[in-house]
Amino acid sequence: MKIGIICGSHRANSQSGKVARYIENALLVQGLCESTWLYDLADNPLPLWDESIWAGDAQWRQTLTPLSEELKSCDGFVVVSPEWHGMAPAGLKNFFLMWTAGGELAHKPALIVTVSTADGGSFPIAELRMSSYKNSRICYLPEHLIIRYVDTVFNENPEHNKPDAQEYFDKRLAYCLEMLREYALAFTQIRESGKTSLEIYTSGM
Ligand SMILES: Cc1cc2nc3c(=O)[nH]c(=O)nc-3n(C[C@H](O)[C@H](O)[C@H](O)COP(=O)(O)O)c2cc1C
Repeated sequence: MKIGIICGSHRANSQSGKVARYIENALLVQGLCESTWLYDLADNPLPLWDESIWAGDAQWRQTLTPLSEELKSCDGFVVVSPEWHGMAPAGLKNFFLMWTAGGELAHKPALIVTVSTADGGSFPIAELRMSSYKNSRICYLPEHLIIRYVDTVFNENPEHNKPDAQEYFDKRLAYCLEMLREYALAFTQIRESGKTSLEIYTSGM
C-alpha cells in the first residue's frame, strides 16, 4: 500500500506543506501503508499546461514521466489544499490538467484536506469535488477534513499547538486515514476488474 500526498499550495513554507508532512508521518506511524510519496507544489515545480503536452513534447515528457510513475504506483491519495481567495490554488488545478488517459489517478480514492488561517476551507472542498475528477477519475471520499486556524495545530513544536484543537484533529485525521486505507484496499478490486478502462472514453462526460 502506497499513499501519495499532494500539497496544493505553491507558497514556500506553506501551512499546507506543514499539514502534508504531518499526514505523511501519521500514515506511517499508524501503520496504514508501507510507503508514501509527498509531492509539494511549493515554488511551482510544474509549468502551466500548454498544448505541446498532447504532441508528446520532449520537455514535458521529461518533467511528467517521473511524476506519472510515482502517481501510478500509489493506491490512494491525500490532496491538501489551502483556501486562496475562496478557491483552490491555480497550481493545484494545473496539476489536475496533467493526468487523464494515463490513468495515474483514475479510480483511486482520495481524501481532501483543506487549510485556512481563519474560518475558510469550505470553498476548495466544493471546488475540488466539482471540477477536478472528471478526466482524472480520482474518487474523493465522502469524508473530508477542514483545518481551520491552521497555525494553532500540527506544528512541529507541540508547544505551539492548541491542545484541545490538536486532540480533536488528531482523532479526526486518524479516522479519515483509516477510512482511506479501507477504500484503497477495496478499490484495487475495481481497477483489476477491467471495467474502468479509459481506452474508449478517455474523457469523462
Ligand atoms: C493568495 C492568498 C489568498 C488567500 N485567501 C484566503 C481565503 O479566501 N480564505 C481563507 O480562509 N484564507 C485565505 N488565505 C490565507 C490562507 O488561509 C493561509 O495562507 C493559510 O496559511 C493556508 O495557505 P498556505 O497553505 O499557502 O500557507 C489566503 C492566502 C493567500 C496566500
